[in-house]
Amino acid sequence: MSFRTTPTVTYVEDVSPGSGALPPRAWYATSDAESLSLNGSWRFRLSATADAEDDSFAAQGYDAGDWAEVTVPGHWVLQGDGAFGSPIYTNHLYPFPVDPPHVPTENPTGDHLRVFDLPDTWPADGTAVLRFDGVESCARVWLNGTELGEFKGSRLPHEFAVGELLKPAGNVLAVRVHQWSAGSYLEDQDQWWLPGIFRDVTLLHRPTDAAGDFFVHASYDHTTGEGTLRVDSDVDGRVSVPGLDIDVATGESVTVAVEPWSAETPKLYDGELVTSGERVPLRIGFRTVVLEDGLIKVNGRAILFKGVNRHEWHPERGRALDLTTMREDVLLMKRHNLNAVRTSHYPPHPAFLDLCDEYGLWVIDECDLETHGFTEQAWRDNPVDDDRWTPALLDRAARMVERDKNHPSIVFWSLGNEAGTGRGLTAMAEWIHGRDPERLVHYEGDWDCRDTDVYSRMYASHAEVERIGQGLDGGTHKRRGLPFIQCEYGHAMGNGPGGIADYQWIFEAHDRIQGGFIWEWIDHGVKHPELGYAYGGDFGEELHDGNFVCDGLIFPDRTPSPGLVEYKKVIEPVRIEGDAAGGAVRVTNAYDFADLSHLEFEFSYQVDGFPTGAHKLAVPPLAPGESAEVKLPAAAPDGKGEEVGWTVRALLAEDTPWAGRGHEVAWGQRTVVPREPLPAAKGARPAVDGDRISLGPAAFDARTGALLSLGGVDVNGPRLDVWRAPTDNDEGASWQDDTRWGVLWRQLGLHRMRHRLEGVESGDDALTVRTRVAPAARDVGLRTEYRWTSDGTLLRLTVSVTPEGDWKVPLPRLGLRLGLPAATTGSAAWFGSGGEAYPDTRAAAKLLLWDASIEELQTPYVRPQENGARSDVRWVELGGLRIEGEPEFWFSARPWTSEQLDAARHLTDLVPGDTVWVNLDHGQQGIGSQSCGPGPLPQYFLKAEPTEFSFVFSATE
Ligand code: GAL
Repeated sequence: MSFRTTPTVTYVEDVSPGSGALPPRAWYATSDAESLSLNGSWRFRLSATADAEDDSFAAQGYDAGDWAEVTVPGHWVLQGDGAFGSPIYTNHLYPFPVDPPHVPTENPTGDHLRVFDLPDTWPADGTAVLRFDGVESCARVWLNGTELGEFKGSRLPHEFAVGELLKPAGNVLAVRVHQWSAGSYLEDQDQWWLPGIFRDVTLLHRPTDAAGDFFVHASYDHTTGEGTLRVDSDVDGRVSVPGLDIDVATGESVTVAVEPWSAETPKLYDGELVTSGERVPLRIGFRTVVLEDGLIKVNGRAILFKGVNRHEWHPERGRALDLTTMREDVLLMKRHNLNAVRTSHYPPHPAFLDLCDEYGLWVIDECDLETHGFTEQAWRDNPVDDDRWTPALLDRAARMVERDKNHPSIVFWSLGNEAGTGRGLTAMAEWIHGRDPERLVHYEGDWDCRDTDVYSRMYASHAEVERIGQGLDGGTHKRRGLPFIQCEYGHAMGNGPGGIADYQWIFEAHDRIQGGFIWEWIDHGVKHPELGYAYGGDFGEELHDGNFVCDGLIFPDRTPSPGLVEYKKVIEPVRIEGDAAGGAVRVTNAYDFADLSHLEFEFSYQVDGFPTGAHKLAVPPLAPGESAEVKLPAAAPDGKGEEVGWTVRALLAEDTPWAGRGHEVAWGQRTVVPREPLPAAKGARPAVDGDRISLGPAAFDARTGALLSLGGVDVNGPRLDVWRAPTDNDEGASWQDDTRWGVLWRQLGLHRMRHRLEGVESGDDALTVRTRVAPAARDVGLRTEYRWTSDGTLLRLTVSVTPEGDWKVPLPRLGLRLGLPAATTGSAAWFGSGGEAYPDTRAAAKLLLWDASIEELQTPYVRPQENGARSDVRWVELGGLRIEGEPEFWFSARPWTSEQLDAARHLTDLVPGDTVWVNLDHGQQGIGSQSCGPGPLPQYFLKAEPTEFSFVFSATE
């Protein structure tokens, strides 16, 4: 018997970062040196294992005519309509046995081939390098049959010297990409596993004496208003900044008066680094970042991060982003008042950082490092605590820092995410501190802050953040002297996050707390022909984490979700409040650097939600932190019994690069004359006629007491409703099992409440229907009385609810559900909040008159769940009915039931029926952030307690 051993592809499982690549250097998009993009269509061959094919395809003359094609940049699993495998989503579990550094024999391997000619303009002198900006997870490269080397570090650049190999025409570039490698153990971020050459491939001409690596040091002294510039360069040359009259040699310092760079005032000076072989454009921002008095200060001032975690995502192209998409992200962030981005959890495409410099965003640039899956074995064998892996970690740190060091927007380097603790991380921090002492180091995983300049946590509760703010949290001596940030909080999965306004108040109350970063920017839904957007499990993965990958402030198509609108309001840089006496507006500048001269203020009254004419409000150009009281510019109109309130809007006074004049930055509202109580609507007498009872404009079923019609409109119901399709935050994460309300609700049976009719009483002045609403198998219940009265035109319903038994859980919702014919219920008009709002997501509830189609009232969360409630509703008109509430209520309307919404897994499961189901809620349970974090705060619980509320119905025709 004989054995044939499988040829081992040793580099794939080698813990080293690779071989053959040039040392990392500063990245720049363009210079006057020639370059050739090798993006486009490449020949492609997929193999099931790393060694299925030999390397003969790399040889010149190889005929790849029968190969498939893929687009570079791209991920092969998102191309070829499934012919090239599928994406896999896991949060932290490795989708392969944890046996470092080994990877499965089944290792999808994509051979990529591209033949190219040099353009006629390509210079004959000098040399050239080939740059890969991102390849997942391991690549081996040949040019014209010569092997250049192999590398790992998916979201990091790698360059190879290729000058002597290039030919004018017919160059053959061959790249073998393996999905799994030792590097995969370092790239266990919570996202889709997506192999491929997903960032640009570029050939760069390097003229003789071209610029090598260079480091722009541009500091700002806030005491003198001067900036100091020094550009250290491997190749000597000159640095010029015409706008500042600077022309100095590299390595030489120059100090001049400058305007500083900040995220709010992103002043960039155009300059140039000129060596004898190359001219490289520079965009210089002067700013100084320090840790001083236990605070992160930029240009002498403590800053407050109003940030977000951004993964790179496009629903069709995955992490292969084009410039337009990157710019869209930045513009959306700026337009929603965000001032900071953590590039979770890897350095982004470098062009994104150019945009952050240009438009103004503070950046925490995070290294491509996460070993989260080792938590399953109590971090045993964690690569970050194993010296054999340290060269790979240092290589990753260097590739990030060297590539990105010239961006003024970057204020922190982050070592990575969720990688435990260990010597490798310390080595990275030491190297980074040594290489760039002008920035700070972040890492969340080490609560002792051994290696970091900030105490950073994720998903800490409000109470804990408050303690930290007060300095009562303890910890190591070093930690106690450090500022605090929440690098992740407010888990934006599905409906939510709730409670972010409550966090913001705490952030702003304590100097030590310097803000936070919402998790996360975008839902990573994959566009799918049948499912709309696919999430974990939709590709048949044997291990997956479902829709935990859809937890962004924007939907996969980049439409803002209500969570982003809420966040915009919570972090608005101007506070507008009514003063106690009601005669003035208090305006506070909450920027860190900018005064208010770039804003104009508009004031208007509204009567019953309807805006009357707008006035200009003269607000002084307050400096950061200042506030002023501004007299109301007009007397309140006579509302003639209607509610009167005012709205003040702070608008951009001029066009900016990120939004036009008139863009709303902040707003405030106040009611000055409350509405009148609703009419008692009584006097008419219920009349029994066979199986019907009539009362004023309404007809009821005499046996059940159910309302059947009102003024000619067929009505199904209304009756008590406590169920909502649990949100991701209701369901909670599996590791949080004490107060996962969605789970407890279902256990109690709140999704299958039964209504037992106890009696229908047709009295002199009212029709009273008594019921008990309760789930099978339980002794708890809600005794519910519906009392109907009418004055002949209006129909008033007062609902009294008395809980019975020991209610240990809050209710999902408490209110009425009724059905209206879909054919005549196409839209709604209401006075209340314009967008979706729940008890702890209602900061942005702008109370005006609104209208929307039933379709527009749905919020398209990728996994269907409770959505779309409007808060503070005074009245709503739809389907021929006007419904007024006392007190104000929550309103939602959908063309399916809550049960259908609950059962659906994707939006495509939801099919409109012939009834529009309307919820008129007296209360809603808060949303919280328990899909990964704390649940709703107790003040947002909807407790089961004796309750009474009323509605007045009338026909609108
Ligand atoms: C954090 C992690 C993120 C993401 C988030 C939950 O623990 O850093 O990558 O997994 O939780 O969505």
